[in-house]
Amino acid sequence: MRLNGKQVLLTGASKGIGRAIALLFADEGADLALTARNADALNEVAEAVRAKGRRAHPLVWDVRDVGRVDERLAEARAALGGLDIVVNNAGVVRLPGDHPDPTEEAAWDYLLDINLKGLYFLCQGAAKILQEQKSGVIINLASDAGMRAAPNAYGISKWGVVGYTRGLAKQLAPHGVRVNGIAPGPVATEMMNWHPGESMESPGLPLGRYSLPEEIASVALFFASADSRAVFGETIVVNSGND
Ligand SMILES: NC(=O)c1ccc[n+]([C@@H]2O[C@H](COP(=O)([O-])OP(=O)(O)OC[C@H]3O[C@@H](n4cnc5c(N)ncnc54)[C@H](OP(=O)(O)O)[C@@H]3O)[C@@H](O)[C@H]2O)c1
Repeated sequence: MRLNGKQVLLTGASKGIGRAIALLFADEGADLALTARNADALNEVAEAVRAKGRRAHPLVWDVRDVGRVDERLAEARAALGGLDIVVNNAGVVRLPGDHPDPTEEAAWDYLLDINLKGLYFLCQGAAKILQEQKSGVIINLASDAGMRAAPNAYGISKWGVVGYTRGLAKQLAPHGVRVNGIAPGPVATEMMNWHPGESMESPGLPLGRYSLPEEIASVALFFASADSRAVFGETIVVNSGND
C-alpha cells in the first residue's frame, strides 16, 4: 500500500473526482478528513471509506469560508492524529441552477471564490503546518482549461491554480513539502452534466470518451506517494487527448 497510515484532508469529497480520490486513497491505506457542503453525500463517502477499514471524518465546510481554515485544519488533525496530505479538489464551473443572480459578476465571484480563493487560503493554512513538520504533500485540482487561452472566469480561475501551484512548490520545496497539480479535461462527473448509467462516449475527444474520475484519482495517488518524490510544481494534464 502506497499511503499506509497517511492522514489526508480532501476537499470536494462528496462526489465525482473527490469521491474517487477518497476511495483510492483508502484502498492504499490512508485515513481521511472529507469536506464538502452536502452532509448526506459526504456521509455516504465516509461510510464507503470506513467499509475499507480506514478512518473517515466528514467535515461540512464551504471552502469560501476562509476564516475557518485554521479551525478546519485543527479539527482534521485532531480527528486523524496528524496531517500529511492536503488535496484541494473542490471546484465549480457555473453558478448553481437556481441562483437568484445569474449575472456575469455573480458568476465571476462564485467561481473565483471557490476555485481560487478557497484553494489559496487552504494552501496557506496547510503550508504553515507542513513546513513546520518538514514533510507533506499538497495536490491542487486545476483544469486543462487553465493550460490554454482562457476567455472566461473558469479558465482564469484555473490558470491561477496552475501558477500558484508552481509558486507555492518553489516556496515549500526547501521545507520538505511537495506541491503539484492535475489538469483534467472532460471527466464523467456531474460537473460535465454526466450521471451514472449514461454513455461515456464523447466522439469529439481523441480517446472517444470522457475520462473516468478514477483515472484522475490515480494521478493524485502518484503525487501523494513517494513515487513522485522529485516532482515539484508540475501540473499534469489528464484529458483523453483533448486539444
Ligand atoms: N469534471 C471535469 O470534467 C473536470 C475537468 C477539469 C477540472 N475539473 C476539476 O476537478 C475538480 C472536481 O470536479 P468534479 O468533476 O468532481 O466536480 P463535481 O462532481 O461537481 O464535484 C465537485 C465537488 O466540489 C465540492 N464543492 C463545490 N463547491 C464547494 C464549496 N463552495 N465548498 C466546498 N466544497 C465544494 C462539491 O461538493 P458540495 O456540492 O457538496 O459542496 C463536490 O464534492 C474541480 O476542481 C474541477 O474544477 C473537473
